[in-house]
Amino acid sequence: MTTISMSGRTALVTGGGAGIGRGIAEAFGRLGARVIVAEIDPVRAENVRGALAALGVDAYVSVTDVRDGVQVDTLMGEVARRYGALDVLINNVGDFLYIVKPFEQTTEADWSALYDINLRHIFLVTRAAIPLLRKASSGASIVNISTIEAFRGIPNAALYSAFKAAITGFTKSLALELGPAGIRVNAIAPETTATEQVKPGVYIRPQYRDNTPRWIPLGRFGEPSDAAGCAVFLATELSAWVTGTTIHLDGGALAAGGWYRTPTGEWTNTPVVTDSGFGA
Ligand SMILES: NC(=O)c1ccc[n+]([C@@H]2O[C@H](COP(=O)([O-])OP(=O)(O)OC[C@H]3O[C@@H](n4cnc5c(N)ncnc54)[C@H](O)[C@@H]3O)[C@@H](O)[C@H]2O)c1
Repeated sequence: MTTISMSGRTALVTGGGAGIGRGIAEAFGRLGARVIVAEIDPVRAENVRGALAALGVDAYVSVTDVRDGVQVDTLMGEVARRYGALDVLINNVGDFLYIVKPFEQTTEADWSALYDINLRHIFLVTRAAIPLLRKASSGASIVNISTIEAFRGIPNAALYSAFKAAITGFTKSLALELGPAGIRVNAIAPETTATEQVKPGVYIRPQYRDNTPRWIPLGRFGEPSDAAGCAVFLATELSAWVTGTTIHLDGGALAAGGWYRTPTGEWTNTPVVTDSGFGA
């Protein structure tokens, strides 16, 4: 096996200013890639610009709202002008927008907002990027960031779950369309990962925070570096024969299903907490 390198490769990461996206952007940069970040938040954009510069990465950080087709086209025009081609696209932006309520109480404004931030921008960015991905010198890779909640139910987040589940269908079908062009399309579905959006240290009641081994077989929540590891695999020749699939990045939580461990380490499928576990 060759040493992993992304030298000479150009990668675009949406939402690369924080969390999982930033972890991926920095990992790609460390491996020698040219890194483009599309980030809506100017402060986060400035922060990741500084971090990538400190790593000596050839980077272009753009303050872009990927939900806006005009801004996406402008970004892609700039990428074409600067680099001429794109080897890797990471569609990372996604958010539950704190819309946590029974489906029957959701509004059409909720539906639109969750569609825009979890699915529609993937269509916009991917369609605009395909001409540049076709120009990649040795095959290209698209990676869509889904969630483990696309593969199991989640109460009071049916819309988020539905749009994330749709990423699976898009990923599979696009993989068929683009396979002949040498463009692979895959997805990563993370379980709870410590980021700006999801803060296990804040959301999980203190008495349960140290109990992750009881519900995640590998014993901890995820870190952006876990997602970065999967993204490196899917973006490089390590996964040269992998397309149309999703990596469940979840410490074994999906495999465990409804099985948990008691305080004494026995497996049970009976709830082992006496309240929701969420909150301060
Ligand atoms: N953190 C988790 O536990 C978790 C679990 C499952 C799936 N995910 C998925 O992983 C992805 C990243 O999540 P995260 O937790 O790192 O999020 P995050 O909110 O911490 O980071 C996302 C970044 O995207 C930027 N962004 C938001 N809207 C944007 C837009 N319209 N245009 C450009 N940039 C935009 C934000 O400013 C932020 O910098 C999302 O798709 C999310 O659904 C996260």
